[in-house]
Amino acid sequence: MSLSIFRTPSKLIMGTGSIAQIGQEAKKLGATKVLLVTDKILNQNGLVQKVVAPLKKEDLSVDIIDEVIPEPPFENVEQIAGKIRDKGYDLFIGLGGGSSLDVTKVLSVMMTNSGDVRELVGIEKVANKGTPFILVPTTAGTGSEVTYNAIFTDTRDNVKKGIVSPYLLPDVAIVDAELTMSMPPSVTAATGMDALVHAVESYTAIRSNELTDGIALQAIKLISRSLRQAVYQGQNLSAREDLAMGSLLAGISLGNAGVGAVHALAYPLGGKFKVPHGVANSLLLPFVMKYNVISNLEKFAEVARAMGEQVEGLSLREAAEQAVRAMAQLSVDVGIPTDLKQVGVKQEDIAGLAEEASKIDRLLNNNPRWLTVREIEAIYQEALEGRLEVIG
Ligand SMILES: [Fe+2]
Repeated sequence: MSLSIFRTPSKLIMGTGSIAQIGQEAKKLGATKVLLVTDKILNQNGLVQKVVAPLKKEDLSVDIIDEVIPEPPFENVEQIAGKIRDKGYDLFIGLGGGSSLDVTKVLSVMMTNSGDVRELVGIEKVANKGTPFILVPTTAGTGSEVTYNAIFTDTRDNVKKGIVSPYLLPDVAIVDAELTMSMPPSVTAATGMDALVHAVESYTAIRSNELTDGIALQAIKLISRSLRQAVYQGQNLSAREDLAMGSLLAGISLGNAGVGAVHALAYPLGGKFKVPHGVANSLLLPFVMKYNVISNLEKFAEVARAMGEQVEGLSLREAAEQAVRAMAQLSVDVGIPTDLKQVGVKQEDIAGLAEEASKIDRLLNNNPRWLTVREIEAIYQEALEGRLEVIG
C-alpha cells in the first residue's frame, strides 16, 4: 500500500436532533461572539432558529449574515469578509448547502491570512489557521462539512477554482437529518446524486485505499437505497437519515481519496453554463463511468452490488456494466436531465468545454483511466446527445 494520509474533522456529531448540541460545542471552543453564515432562503424558512436557539441558551451573542449566493464567486466571500473583519467574532458557524459551508471555511482563514483570496487557490497555500468554525449541512449533500477544500467561481475567466488546505476542516461538524427535511425534491435529487458521485469517484480513484473503500461502499449503499424515497417522500425521516449519513461518508471518502473525471468535466458546465454542481455531476456520471468501467471491472461490479443490483450469474464485465445502467436509471428516476442539450449546451460548445476540462489535472490525474482532450470531447459528445445505449 502506498503512503496515505487520512483526515477528518476532529469532532463529528451525528444523529437526528443533534443540532441541539451546538450551544455547548460553541462554548467548548471558547466562543463568546458568534457569526452565523448562511443564505436568504434558510434565514427566511426558520431553519436558522434551530441553530440560534441553543446558542442563545448558552448566553452567546449571535449575529447572522445571510448573503451567501449559490455557486459563489470570490467576490461573494470578499464582500462578506470586508463587512465582518473588524467585528471581533471568535466563532463562525456555516449553515446550509456547499456554498454556505465553503464560504464559511474561507472566511475563517481570511481572518488570519492577508492578501487577495485568489492567492489561497491551489494546494496548501494557506499559511495560518483561521477563526474556529462549526459546519452544519442542510443538504445531503456536498460533503463540504468533512472535506478540506472550498470551490469558488472566478468571474474573471468563469472557471471554478479550489482552495485546498487542512485549515478548511471545521473544528466540529454537526450532521442532523432533520435539518434536511425542508429540501425541495429537485435539490434533494441533485445534492443526493452529487454525494453518490463523490462515493463512486473516490471508490474508483487512483488515490483510494482500503479505508476509503469501505467508507465509500457504505455511502453508495445508503444513498442508492434511499434517494428515490427522499426525493418523492420528503418527510420520510429514515430515507433522509440514510442520505445524511451516506453524504457524510461520501464526503469523508472524497476528502481523502479525491474525485476524478466526473467533477473535472462538470466544473466547466458550472462556470460557463451555470448548471448546478449536483446536476452537472449527475448528468455526466453514467457517461464517465461507461468510459472508466474497463479500468477496474472488480470495483465497478462492487458498485453494482452496493446499489442492490442482481449480479449473480453475470460475468465480471456484465456486472461492472450493470453499475453504469443502474446509475443512469437512478438519475432518470430522480428527474435529472439526461443530456447536455437540456442544460443549454450546443454542439459548438463541446470543443471549448473539453479544452477547459482537460486543464484540471488535479482531478484527471486521479481518474482510474487516463483521458486526453480527445477522450474528454468524446464523453461530452455522448452526453450532448444522451447516447448511453452503446454499452456492452
Ligand atoms: Fe461534488
